[in-house]
Amino acid sequence: MAELDDPEPGPGEVLVRVHTAAVNYPDVLIAANRYQVSAPLPFIPGSEFAGVVTALGPGVPGPAVGSPVAGAVLSGAFAEQVVAPVAALRSIPDGLDMVHAAAFHVTYTTAYHALVTVGGATAGEWVAVLGAAGGVGSAVVDVATRLGLRVIAAASSEQRLGVARELGAEAGIDYAREDLKARIRELTGGPGAHLVIDPVGGDHAEVALRALRRAGRFVTVGFADGGIPRIPLNLVLLKNLVVRGFEARTIRWEDPDAATAAELALAGMVRAGMRPLVSEVHPLSEVAAALTAVAERRTSGKIVLEMTGESR
Ligand SMILES: NC(=O)c1ccc[n+]([C@@H]2O[C@H](COP(=O)([O-])OP(=O)(O)OC[C@H]3O[C@@H](n4cnc5c(N)ncnc54)[C@H](OP(=O)(O)O)[C@@H]3O)[C@@H](O)[C@H]2O)c1
Repeated sequence: MAELDDPEPGPGEVLVRVHTAAVNYPDVLIAANRYQVSAPLPFIPGSEFAGVVTALGPGVPGPAVGSPVAGAVLSGAFAEQVVAPVAALRSIPDGLDMVHAAAFHVTYTTAYHALVTVGGATAGEWVAVLGAAGGVGSAVVDVATRLGLRVIAAASSEQRLGVARELGAEAGIDYAREDLKARIRELTGGPGAHLVIDPVGGDHAEVALRALRRAGRFVTVGFADGGIPRIPLNLVLLKNLVVRGFEARTIRWEDPDAATAAELALAGMVRAGMRPLVSEVHPLSEVAAALTAVAERRTSGKIVLEMTGESR
């Protein structure tokens, strides 16, 4: 922890007083320089935050000073103040306090697009969710349940499966002990899942893909396992499967209509009572322990760091 000079927003940027910041798995990867994009050194870790606008860069019209905002940057959020491009800011859906606002956008946006924009999910379909108690996984279970999908949660312990069941999963598979493919087939009455959402990768990915029915869809969103799976394409050909990826950082530029549709749909779900699963809230001084807990697979849902006592 160090005291730095107050940052100043440049053109196109806004200064935000950070109230809360959520720990995402990519923060671990960025700190270890194992992420797709490297942060220029030296940097302050932390990507997702919620707070209040305190200054606007030259020529920036808004949001007005005093506006509550959430946002996602590559680095800089584990601090009392962050400078962010205006385009990185989001309004906070009505009903979310600062703790839940910091933990919402990255995982829920990813979940919605993985399921709907890319996954083409339809109510009544079976979706298998890997890492179902993690940040992205729990959001997928939550959104999928609200969309009327039948959710099979896969996770590494009974306790984690309990977390996913509370969010609406109809069934759970402990993939550390059970046969993932056989159990998905069994639970779906034989043919397999319509859709797999995979934020884990590693060895489970191919097994889950093999548990899809004909013309099923596999959406890859991350590699928390560390291993990048290599899928034999004959499996894809033989069953007419669809394999797609989703990347939240670029969706607003690549498909603004889909981005807006997702924001509206998610805001409606928040109005209906949806809240991200925040399992722990810590002061900023405990940031290293929070990152370590995520790196060591010890968390469920999200850990949030509080910079001020004004978050709820
Ligand atoms: N595509 C996008 O736009 C996007 C957006 C956000 C995050 N992501 C990616 O999605 C992945 C998950 O992120 P997250 O924030 O949900 O992480 P998280 O909260 O830590 O959850 C990851 C889950 O993966 C499972 N896992 C399996 N092997 C693991 C290992 N060796 N270390 C840690 N976890 C392991 C764990 O569940 P079990 O123990 O139950 O297996 C854990 O709950 C990351 O790779 C992240 O970079 C992608």
